[in-house]
Amino acid sequence: MHEIHLYQRDKAARYRELIPQIRSLMEGETDMTANLANVSAALKEAFGFLWVGFYMVREHECELVLGPFQGPVACTRIAYGRGVCGTAWKEGRSIIVDDVEQFPGHIACSSLSRSEIVVPLEPSAGTILGVLDVDSSETGTFDEVDRRYLEMLCNIICESAK
Ligand code: SME
Repeated sequence: MHEIHLYQRDKAARYRELIPQIRSLMEGETDMTANLANVSAALKEAFGFLWVGFYMVREHECELVLGPFQGPVACTRIAYGRGVCGTAWKEGRSIIVDDVEQFPGHIACSSLSRSEIVVPLEPSAGTILGVLDVDSSETGTFDEVDRRYLEMLCNIICESAK
């Protein structure tokens, strides 16, 4: 509980510190895989989340496929509209789940996951390249602060690929 409390109090400051670091990490690099790999590592290192990674939309496929990530091994494919990731893709919006047991159809890649946030990578309105998924081993970890900064981060990633 103590750690979570500190996380909630300091996280906006930590995101504000992290975002320019990530921006400079991606400077001059247009390769999406390289950038997603570094973003996963940077978020995992900065916050110690259980799992941080990306699921990417595959052309001609109605599925998300596992991309760069940090944390325990995860399921490789998620269908359109399935789980939190597939729902965020279908609805084209970020989703915060306070308690994964209360989300119908949640896909449990790790039994340790208790809450999560999923943010689409949307370079232009209506086009979704994939999603960022962040999982926590505690319930209620993510809120509007996470949404705001993780959406900012996903916009920076989309910009870097242009
Ligand atoms: N929980 C996600 C699946 C991905 S893993 O958590 C890494 C979901 O329900 O879409």
